[in-house]
Amino acid sequence: MGKYRGNPAAIRALVKDDQVHRDVYIDAELFELEMSELWANTWIYVGHTSQVLRTGDFYTTHIASQPVVMVRHDDHSVRVLFNRCAHKGTKIVTDKCGNVGGFFRCPYHAWSYKTDGSLFAIPRKDGYDGTGMAAGPAGRGMGEVKNVEIYRGFVFARLSERGPGFREFFGESLSSMDNMADRSPEGELEIAGGCLRYLHNCNWKMYVENLNDAMHPMVAHESSAGTAKKLWEGMPADLPKPMAIEQFVPFVSGYDFFDKMGVRVFDNGHSYSGVNFSIHSAYSALPDYERSLVERYGEQKAHDILAMSRHNTVYYPSLTIKGAIQSIRVARPLAADKTVIESWTFRLKGAPDALLQRTLMYARLINSPMSVVGHDDLHAYRSIQEGLAANHNEWVSLHRDFDPAEIGDTDRSVSGLSEISMRNQFHAWAKFMTLNMTAEA
Ligand code: FES
Ligand SMILES: [Fe+2]
Repeated sequence: MGKYRGNPAAIRALVKDDQVHRDVYIDAELFELEMSELWANTWIYVGHTSQVLRTGDFYTTHIASQPVVMVRHDDHSVRVLFNRCAHKGTKIVTDKCGNVGGFFRCPYHAWSYKTDGSLFAIPRKDGYDGTGMAAGPAGRGMGEVKNVEIYRGFVFARLSERGPGFREFFGESLSSMDNMADRSPEGELEIAGGCLRYLHNCNWKMYVENLNDAMHPMVAHESSAGTAKKLWEGMPADLPKPMAIEQFVPFVSGYDFFDKMGVRVFDNGHSYSGVNFSIHSAYSALPDYERSLVERYGEQKAHDILAMSRHNTVYYPSLTIKGAIQSIRVARPLAADKTVIESWTFRLKGAPDALLQRTLMYARLINSPMSVVGHDDLHAYRSIQEGLAANHNEWVSLHRDFDPAEIGDTDRSVSGLSEISMRNQFHAWAKFMTLNMTAEA
């Protein structure tokens, strides 16, 4: 047995109010425990219902290192099944997405399953007569993840039987998902433009923490976004900005800008930056689109929807969204030092194509493996992963703007430069890592 398994006190000791022990980023045993505890006890993003519109449509992914397939069943419900044959364990579906027709069929010995995971047929089934197969786990089929919730089309699953309910877990943070979907004149989103997958050689938390770390953009992105800014300097003020300039330049705004932007945290590790405005606030107006929102919602509500221009919302631990630009990024951890970040873009149903073009441009410029901005961040994450090997200091500082009164006070909005969102994440980390462990093993 390692240092941490069955030892909740040792796990809790890694997280102090204002600093964390380096093991949370580099220790392989802790990574395994994150998958079996934190990522099982919380609601993890699976996919979006628009990926599985027709009966038999499926999408495969992992939750907490376990293979799953999201599928549209014949009663139109969306199911999340374990992607494992009940016979000898073969992955039933290896494609990323597609349509399976009426049932899944294992490629090894052709056991087949309905789209709710129940066993449909077995070749030469009489070979099991008089055996215990049907009464055992093999007889139960593929196995379904029971705790699945869909919110505005976003599909989440919780693997563990214990853990908070969906509403309890996300609380008021759901307002960011609402804002993203409300931006559609039809109130609905659909995935468009495919997925950019980007392998990060770093711990998943470095990515999740970075999203509301507003002390880094003006430093880490100086060479990329700063170059775009210099290119545009001296241009006449009334010259329309190319979309790329509009999207790059705000990254190198000064400390005051990010300070005033503000950050807010919620229970269970969630947070968003951009309480007052954000790097997305100054995008050029699109009059046709705004008119269509007024037609649906009326002047006041349409104005409120567009004025809510949040920067990043972190749905701890797996999903991060940018409602104002209709993009999401999903963390899929592979190892303590390996994480795939998926970047997805959405069409606002009923909105002009210009909105989708803006979203796709943002994904290419900022989130894609070819992004110059994205590499700035990746370089920092990998450097942390390497730097933490230095033994003279085992602690990572999260002290900026720490105020003991902030603990448990999720109503406060503070300076955007505060490290409160990271402290809040680690508070949730310790809670959900030890939720199912006995007080002292
Ligand atoms: S492993 Fe799937 S049918 Fe045998
Ligand atoms: Fe960044």
